[in-house]
Order: sequence, then C-alpha cells, then structure tokens
Amino acid sequence: MTPIDAKRPLQLNDQGQLRHFLSLDGLPRELLTEILDTADSFLEVGARAVKKVPLLRGKTVCNVFFENSTRTRTTFELAAQRLSADVITLNVSTSSTSKGETLFDTLRNLEAMAADMFVVRHADSGAAHFIAEHVCPEVAIINGGDGRHAHPTQGMLDMLTIRRHKGGFENLSVAIVGDILHSRVARSNMIALKALGCPDIRVVAPKTLLPVGVEQYGVKVYTDLAQGLKDVDVVIMLRLQRERMAGGLLPSEGEFYRLFGLTTARLAGAKPDCIVMHPGPINRGVEIESAVADGAQSVILNQVTYGIAVRMAVLSMAMSGQNAQRQFEQENAQSPSVSLALASSTRPPAWTRLPICTSAKASSCPWAPRPQASPPARPWKPTA
Ligand code: NCD
Repeated sequence: MTPIDAKRPLQLNDQGQLRHFLSLDGLPRELLTEILDTADSFLEVGARAVKKVPLLRGKTVCNVFFENSTRTRTTFELAAQRLSADVITLNVSTSSTSKGETLFDTLRNLEAMAADMFVVRHADSGAAHFIAEHVCPEVAIINGGDGRHAHPTQGMLDMLTIRRHKGGFENLSVAIVGDILHSRVARSNMIALKALGCPDIRVVAPKTLLPVGVEQYGVKVYTDLAQGLKDVDVVIMLRLQRERMAGGLLPSEGEFYRLFGLTTARLAGAKPDCIVMHPGPINRGVEIESAVADGAQSVILNQVTYGIAVRMAVLSMAMSGQNAQRQFEQENAQSPSVSLALASSTRPPAWTRLPICTSAKASSCPWAPRPQASPPARPWKPTA
C-alpha cells in the first residue's frame, strides 16, 4: 500500500494522476502525452451533430476570471458544457469582488454552492496555486493563466496543434518570437516542448524582452529574427503584453514590427511547410502581417478548435483524479499505517489551514473540522 505522501506535488494525487492543473513544471512526458491523446479523442466529439459526452454530468464547473479573456473563457465554457457539466461563469469585474469582497470570500461562496471545479484566471503569478492550497481539497483548480507565470492549457493546446500538424516533436525546430519576458504562454510552451523531446527550441526577441536566465529552459536565444527563423518547422508568435510592461522597453510598436514582425518575406526563411501559430489576440501590423495571419501556413484558428478538446481532456482528467483520491483516502482511512502517516504529517489543523473549507461539502472533506473537534460556530474573518 502506498503511504499518503504529504510532500507529493500539489497538482497530482497519490497515484500520480492530475487533480489540479496549475502549471506544466515537473509534469512527466507520459502525463503530457496522455493529455494530448485524450484531447485527440475529444476532437471527434466536437465534430458530431450532438456535441456532448456525459463525463461531468452532475458536476459544477465555475469559471472565475479576474482578468479579461475571450478565447480561454469561452472555450473552457464550451469544454465543460460538452462534458455535460453545469457551468457558471463569474465576471469578476461586475461581481461582489468589485464591491470590496475578498478573493477568499468570493471563493467561499462558490464553494458553498458545491462547485466541483474552479477555472481561475488572475493577473497575479501564483494565484491558482494559492487557491489550490486553500480551497477544500476535493475541489479541482484549473489555471486559466496567472500573471506572467503559466498558461498550461494554452501550452497543451499548442502542443496538440504541433503534434497534429507535424506528427511529433522529435525532429522539430520551433521558434517562439516576441515578448518572451511577459508571456506565460512562452514559459508553458518552453517547458512542454522540452518535456516532449523537441531538440531545437528557439526564443527570438529584443534583449529588453528576454528574461534573465531564459537559457535554463533548454532554449537557444536569438536577437535577430532572420537567424532565429532559419529552417524552423514551427513559429509561435506572441502578443506584445503592453499591460504588463513598465517603462520604455521598446522604442515603438512600429520599430518592433520592423525588426520582429512576421511578414511573408521573413517567413520565407523558415521551412516551406513551416506552420504559423499565435495564442491570440493577434495584433495585425504589430507582431504579424495580415497576409501571414490569414495565409495558408497559419493554423491560428485550428488552435482555437484544439483548445476546446484540450480543455475537455484536462477537466475530465482532473475530475477523475479527484475522485480517485477520495476513493483512495476512504479505502485507507481504516488502515493503521495510513493513520500513522496522517498523524505525523505536517498538515496544520483544519481550522488554521483552511479558512475557506467550511462549505456545504465540508462533511465529506477530509481536512474539514469533524463535529467533535469543531470550535463553537464563529464567523471567519479575513486577517487585517
Ligand atoms: C494569451 C494569454 O491570455 O496569456 N491569450 C490567450 O489565452 N488566448 C496570450 C495573450 O494574451 O497575449
């Protein structure tokens, strides 16, 4: 029997399956391949007359977007609906958060509605991890993009796009071009490409838009677009993240386009069958020429379609990882060895660790207060 490991990665259960999806850091190639294979099978569902499977029937998925989004939010909604879940989307800019409610209180209320999954987008790096650490452990958290840190479903939909158009990763040269410094997409893509065995990963950007130490991701750095694009199989363009830029990192958008914009002439330096990708939203004439964005080599709209299938895969795998974890814990609850492991674990008592774990579902939540151990009812208040 496997003892419960208090140090296991937050996003995996005791059997190494996904239970949250927070970042691609440290995820093994087998798990990434399983996500791609599962997504491949869901692509067929999107092509049916009735685009539904019952995998999440009776489950509630709550999209909580603290930052603007069109593609990611709507494709998560569609993915959850195609899995037959009930879906709520909270537009935080018009919700109680704008009336002063804290993140904790917003999430406590959603927990009280017995949501099973939260898809979270937040401007702060680490927000999804923070929520996963504090929410009731049976709720799955899916990161829909946190600050500059990670955008793991975008990373996986980009990998699905590459695999479907190029057949694999083993012999590929891939260039990621543009605002690497502020891009969570670039980070997730570098990690995924490395883990999946891509031998030649290039980042191409002006020096001011390259993070210090980016070579640690196993990438080659180019500050000249022609050199960076030479003979590549895939080019991933990035948007200039103006909202995250402080100070004059660029002389002007025109100057950026002149040196780093992807035009038909520049694309000619790549392999003739090179595919062009972009996570969207695209800025025509800033990072990409219209003729390229709409041209025969562009797979930008395919990415959007594949995004639904990848999100279906991640939602269904995380829910099944959560269910497996519940079952594992129930089966082992009576075992003396596991009881000992739990007794010696470093988890602090529920009332100090889980300020938001007091939902309607708390009775089935292993870390929630048991009736005999609960202090007298007192409202939880955020610390000053
Ligand atoms: C990306 C994001 O939000 O990080 N877009 C997306 O998810 N479709 C990239 C971007 O905004 O530039």
